[in-house]
Amino acid sequence: MMQHLQVPNREVEQVLLLLKNNNWLADGKLIYPSKDDKYRLIPLSTNLPDDFPDELSKYEIINANYKFDSRINPDWLTHLSSLIDKNSYEKFEQLWPTSHEFVGDMMIIKLDKQILSFSSQIANAKLISHPNIRLVLADHGVKGEFRIRQLIPIGVRHDSQIILENIPKELCKTRVTIKESGLKIICDPMKAYFSTKLQTERQETLLFAKELKHLLHRPINVCDPFCGVGPAVSSLLSEPDLVGNLLSSDLNQEAVKILFENMSKWDKRPYPEIAKKIDWIYPNRLIGIADALDLVSGPDYLGKWDMILINLPHRTLELLPQLIPLLDNTSHSLIRGRLIVEEKEIETTNQILQQLLPECLINKPKPELKIKRDYGPTLRLCSFEAWLK
Ligand SMILES: C[S@@+](CC[C@H](N)C(=O)[O-])C[C@H]1O[C@@H](n2cnc3c(N)ncnc32)[C@H](O)[C@@H]1O
Repeated sequence: MMQHLQVPNREVEQVLLLLKNNNWLADGKLIYPSKDDKYRLIPLSTNLPDDFPDELSKYEIINANYKFDSRINPDWLTHLSSLIDKNSYEKFEQLWPTSHEFVGDMMIIKLDKQILSFSSQIANAKLISHPNIRLVLADHGVKGEFRIRQLIPIGVRHDSQIILENIPKELCKTRVTIKESGLKIICDPMKAYFSTKLQTERQETLLFAKELKHLLHRPINVCDPFCGVGPAVSSLLSEPDLVGNLLSSDLNQEAVKILFENMSKWDKRPYPEIAKKIDWIYPNRLIGIADALDLVSGPDYLGKWDMILINLPHRTLELLPQLIPLLDNTSHSLIRGRLIVEEKEIETTNQILQQLLPECLINKPKPELKIKRDYGPTLRLCSFEAWLK
C-alpha cells in the first residue's frame, strides 16, 4: 500500500505538474484510474511536506495498492547499483541523491561532495531511467549577486547515445521553455535565476493579487524589482484585468533579455530584442535593467505600486525599508516577501518585520514568516505577506 492523491480526471495534468516540480511523485509507480473511473490515483513520494499547499489539500490522500511502472525500469538506483562496484554503492547508500528538479528536458541534481567522483555513473543511471531527459546537471549552489546556479553538465543524451565524458559544449544548451500552469516561460538557469520549485509560491501570489484587486475594486499596479526572467508576473498577466501598471526589473541583463522575450509572448506585443535600462516600454509597462535600490532614488517610480514582490531572500530585511516608498500609500497595498532566517530566530524576525513595516490592515493576519523549506541544517526559507493600510 502507498499514499495516493485522488484527483478528478480533468484536473490531473495540472496537479501532476505541481507534484513533479516539487518532487512529490513516487518514483517508478503507475498513476491508475479509480474503480468508478472518475479519478486518477497518483502515487505520492515519502518526502511530502507537512504543509501540503492549499491547491493540493482539497484532494483526498488515500492508501491504495501501488502498481509498478513496467514500461521501463524507472528506479534509477537499480541502474546505479549496476554501474558501480557493490562496496562503493553500499558505502554511500545514504548519500545518493533522493531528489531532483526537472527544468524542461533537463534534470538538476545536488550531489554531496563525497560522491562527486561518481557523477558520470549517477548521470548515466538518471538518463537511463528518465528517457525524456536530455541533459543532467550537477547543482553547485546559487552564487553571486545574480543568484545564478552553478551548474555542471555531467551527462547528455544525443542521438540516442549517452555521453558522459568530454561533453561537447554545443550539446549543453540550458535555454529551455517550460510550461507552468499552462503558460510558457523561457528560462536559462545558467544565465539567470530560475526555479520550478517556486511554482506553488507563484500560485499563492496570484491568489493574493486577486484578493488585493477585490479590495481595491480595480486592476492592481504590480512592482517586481527582482523579477529574474519574470515567472511571478507570468501568472499575474494571464489573469484578465488583474494587472494595471507593471514594473518588472532586474540587475542581471541576461535575465532582462529573456524577460523581454517572455513579455512579448505574455503581453502579446513586441518588446526590445536586447536588454535595456528600465524604461516605459508601453504606457503601463515599466521594464528593464535596474538596481532595485536606484528605483527609489528618483521620484518617478515612488508611491505608484499596490503590490511589491521582494524575492531576494538573503537581503530582504535590509532592502524592505528602502523599498516601502515605492508603495502607493493612498490605498491598501501588499508586500509579498521571502527571506532566509535561522529557525530559532523566526520569532525575533517577525517582531523586526512588524516594526519595519508601516501600519497593517487590522482585518488581515499580521505579517509573519511561514517556513517554506529547509535551507541548510538550521536555516529556513520563509515567506510572508504584509497587508498595509
Ligand atoms: C532569487 S532571484 C528571484 C528571481 C525571480 N523573482 C524568480 O522568482 O525567478 C533574485 C533576483 O534578484 C536579482 N537581483 C539581485 N540584486 C539585485 C538588485 N540590487 N536589484 C535588482 N535585482 C537584483 C538577481 O539578478 C535575481 O534575478
